Amino acid sequence: MHYFRYKNNTLYAEEVSVASLAKQYGTPLYIYSARTLRRHIKAYTDALKGLPHIVCYAVKANSSAAILRLLGSMGAGADVVSGGELYRALRAGIPAQKVVFAGVGKTDEEIEYAIKKGILMFNIESLEEMENINRIAQRLGKRASVALRINPDIDPETHPYISTGLKKNKFGLPIERALEFYREASSMKNLRVVGIHKHIGSQITKVTPFVDALKRVMVLFDNLKQEGINIKYLDIGGGLGIQYNDENPPHPKELAKRIIPVIKGRDVTLIVEPGRSIVGNAGIFVTKVLYTKEGVDRRFIIVDGGMNDLLRPSLYNAYHHIIPVKRRRVKKVFADVVGPICESGDFLAKGRELPSVSRSDLLAVLSAGAYGFSMSSNYNSRPRPAEVLVDGNKHYLIRKRETLNDLIRGERIPEHLRG
Ligand code: LLP
Repeated sequence: MHYFRYKNNTLYAEEVSVASLAKQYGTPLYIYSARTLRRHIKAYTDALKGLPHIVCYAVKANSSAAILRLLGSMGAGADVVSGGELYRALRAGIPAQKVVFAGVGKTDEEIEYAIKKGILMFNIESLEEMENINRIAQRLGKRASVALRINPDIDPETHPYISTGLKKNKFGLPIERALEFYREASSMKNLRVVGIHKHIGSQITKVTPFVDALKRVMVLFDNLKQEGINIKYLDIGGGLGIQYNDENPPHPKELAKRIIPVIKGRDVTLIVEPGRSIVGNAGIFVTKVLYTKEGVDRRFIIVDGGMNDLLRPSLYNAYHHIIPVKRRRVKKVFADVVGPICESGDFLAKGRELPSVSRSDLLAVLSAGAYGFSMSSNYNSRPRPAEVLVDGNKHYLIRKRETLNDLIRGERIPEHLRG
């Protein structure tokens, strides 16, 4: 659910016309709806009401300072995967005690930074990482709180690039050997074992993989208890899907209904790490038609937004609805919507049925709030787009469009190459 709707055939973000935002801020442009963000966070907190819990928003989905601030102000914590994300979360006012840190390749500097800030826990992904965190904590004279990320070997039935909980994936520690790893962790003087973590993938549209994975983890949880290892935090990761096209993903309420009984009776705080389901449908990407042309066997709509701005179609062949900002009664055409980047893989849609458009028309790419701007780049030396947050009838620039100067910031030309 979101608040991007037509009124009199003109697309609105909440109470603000998208065309007026494009005019004021230019294109390509990301627009987010604050009301949608609030609604999505609330969906989780309401669903989990019966249980001590923390919603650790997955910062990678969209790491905008304003969005982090908004979510943090509603009580969200953060799931971070780098020192950079930790920095962003803390700067946005999210308390370190609500931050969990995942990722297979944490560097010494990142580990030290997180220990010094006193995060809730590291989600450890290998034995060597465990030893390293212990060593760094010892050097700092601290104890680091940790969870082990368990790979439950469950197929989330999603795109192979975003499935993470299978044996063949690089993530986590195999569940078969989990007990042994936990014993090891508990014996390390500068670690405090506080949690279990799992995350099986992203854009999951069924409840069953979550439940199956959780059941496996709960067996481990109970075994650990018998060994005297008490787990305070049960982190079940993120991954709940959203509707891009015709998917019918479960509501957090349905997920909660099925997982709460599996956890019941244990004295534990549940952590969830949703990213996409919070921001995905809270954002659109607005792009302007530059040209249209007829190829030999297809029509091309060339727009000013490309794969550097929104990579998902190119990288995953992901589907995003594309709709006109002004709805008119015109004939429909089949077309490839492509960007200006010099790569054949630069497209937003292929063979898509769209109302015919002409130069300067605006198109809105829906469900672009998650893994949109956060995966953008400067490829082809394109300044990255502006981002705007709409709240009711107000709108705020939350990130300036990059300038040509931004492109070369930090670059140096060695003296001997200067003329
Ligand atoms: N927790 C962990 C440990 C993760 O690795 C991820 C996502 C999440 C939480 C959040 O998952 P979500 O609720 O957003 O599904 N770039 C891809 C998605 C990659 C997801 C990586 N991990 C895409 O555009 O589809």
